[in-house]
Amino acid sequence: MNLEELTKYYDFSGKTIVITGGAGILGGEMACALVGCRASVAVLDRDPKLFDRFVNRIDTSVGKCIVVYGDVLNRDVLEETAKKIIEDFGRIDILINAAGGNNPRASTSADRSFFDLPTDAVRFVFDLNLLGTIIPSQVFGRYMAKQGEGIIINVSSMNSFRPLTRIPAYSAAKAGVSNFTQWLAVHMAQEYSPKIRVNAIAPGFFLTDQNRFLLTEEKSGELTDRGRQIVSHTPMGRFGNPEDLLGTLLWLMSPASAFVTGVVVPVDGGFSAFAGV
Ligand SMILES: NC(=O)c1ccc[n+]([C@@H]2O[C@H](COP(=O)([O-])OP(=O)(O)OC[C@H]3O[C@@H](n4cnc5c(N)ncnc54)[C@H](OP(=O)(O)O)[C@@H]3O)[C@@H](O)[C@H]2O)c1
Repeated sequence: MNLEELTKYYDFSGKTIVITGGAGILGGEMACALVGCRASVAVLDRDPKLFDRFVNRIDTSVGKCIVVYGDVLNRDVLEETAKKIIEDFGRIDILINAAGGNNPRASTSADRSFFDLPTDAVRFVFDLNLLGTIIPSQVFGRYMAKQGEGIIINVSSMNSFRPLTRIPAYSAAKAGVSNFTQWLAVHMAQEYSPKIRVNAIAPGFFLTDQNRFLLTEEKSGELTDRGRQIVSHTPMGRFGNPEDLLGTLLWLMSPASAFVTGVVVPVDGGFSAFAGV
């Protein structure tokens, strides 16, 4: 191994990468970086217009990018979207399942006890995170099974290791994502090809639109009590920046991790290692 060989590992020329939730904060950051690494990226989202936030950072003189409509819970729509991506790019090499998130109605609070959490809100969170990872893996994974190679990266959470207070549905759903990551890694390797790898990233705490006003005060921008607790339990003493995920993502997608499958990698500033004392 030398520097030239190592650099080639991170050149994704000719690789097609589908990112669900690709117009979101973390997915969008990944899309920008991957186009910059010469990939052909399909940004898939139920609101593709959101990706306009990133458009001026996409360097199409280096890689390629299309933005396509897709609902991760609608298999028929995803099948059609997959055909469109194949028409444009010819194959599907890598799937990043980044669509996901919580719903405030599925969180406990002073006004909403666990006993009163509406079933439809709990189901929404389970579906979005778990089914929303399983269904795209079925649709896009089938192409990988036919090719005999491919990579799937799921996005789990700190909640999958130990649940945080207040968010039972999100925690259980993300634990499901981590468990499914292991299951699918074994299944793909044994039933289809050991060249199909499935791994997950478990981000720590990143300030995004979903959690901004849970972690910081809307008016002052100061940390909330919960935000302060999180930072004080993060040995590196800060929230993550979206670009903090990129090194792990690129490693899991590159031949540098050719013998790695079924793992969930925390990118959390040490949060999951810290006992709090
Ligand atoms: N931010 C964090 O600290 C953190 C920590 C751990 C894990 N994560 C996980 O990281 C992933 C990305 O989160 P993020 O912070 O970047 O959130 P985000 O900005 O809300 O991105 C999620 C994207 O998924 C889209 N989406 C929602 N439902 C969809 C559906 N049914 N089909 C297709 N797309 C759909 C969203 O669109 P809409 O805006 O229209 O809903 C949004 O563009 C999620 O899985 C999240 O759970 C985030």
